[in-house]
Amino acid sequence: MRKNLGAKPYIYPQPVLIVATYSEEGKADAMNVAYGGIVNSNRLQINIGVRHKTSDNIKAKGAFTVGIADVKNLVAADYVGIVSGHDEPEKMEKSGFHIVKSEFVDAPVIQELPVSLECKVEEINQYDATLRIVAEIVNVSADEAVLDEAGNIDPARLGAISYDPAGHKYLKLGEAVGTAFSDGNQLK
Ligand SMILES: Cc1cc2nc3c(=O)[nH]c(=O)nc-3n(C[C@H](O)[C@H](O)[C@H](O)COP(=O)(O)O)c2cc1C
Repeated sequence: MRKNLGAKPYIYPQPVLIVATYSEEGKADAMNVAYGGIVNSNRLQINIGVRHKTSDNIKAKGAFTVGIADVKNLVAADYVGIVSGHDEPEKMEKSGFHIVKSEFVDAPVIQELPVSLECKVEEINQYDATLRIVAEIVNVSADEAVLDEAGNIDPARLGAISYDPAGHKYLKLGEAVGTAFSDGNQLK
């Protein structure tokens, strides 16, 4: 029997995206974002509260990077999701994340996160107290340690984590259980 759970944001898996920005003065910040995803092959969106420091930074710079959080960096990823740059001037230092400026956009790339999508803002719309930000992905950089022999991202090596919005847990991703655009052929 099915049970109605009400109106909840229960999409699975939900990502753990670490959005990194610079303020107008060039100070780095980062936050944890679950409400985000791909729009099309060269665009993504993030949905973030209007009062976050990150929101001010994105409006000021029109750019951000998205690091894929992994098991190794879980504690730092959670930290940047529970402390605001508005309240903690040493947020990045305390997180332990190290940054270098992106070669492509005016935003920091977090060195510890193995995959980073470098993004240029195209559109910002406000819904209630949330900004829906659509951005162009202008580059993706990846640590060679998570690439396979063909140069593609290997999910098992990446060890990305997902956010469980019902249980507030982080889940590990990476086990392949099928082949996309192929397994369905059995039913044709
Ligand atoms: C697992 C997790 C997911 C989160 N997802 C979002 C999100 O999708 N949108 C949002 O506005 N805040 C989200 N947050 C909260 C922000 O990351 C948090 O408020 C952060 O401190 C904002 O930092 P800033 O003010 O320095 O930008 C999430 C936090 C956690 C721990």
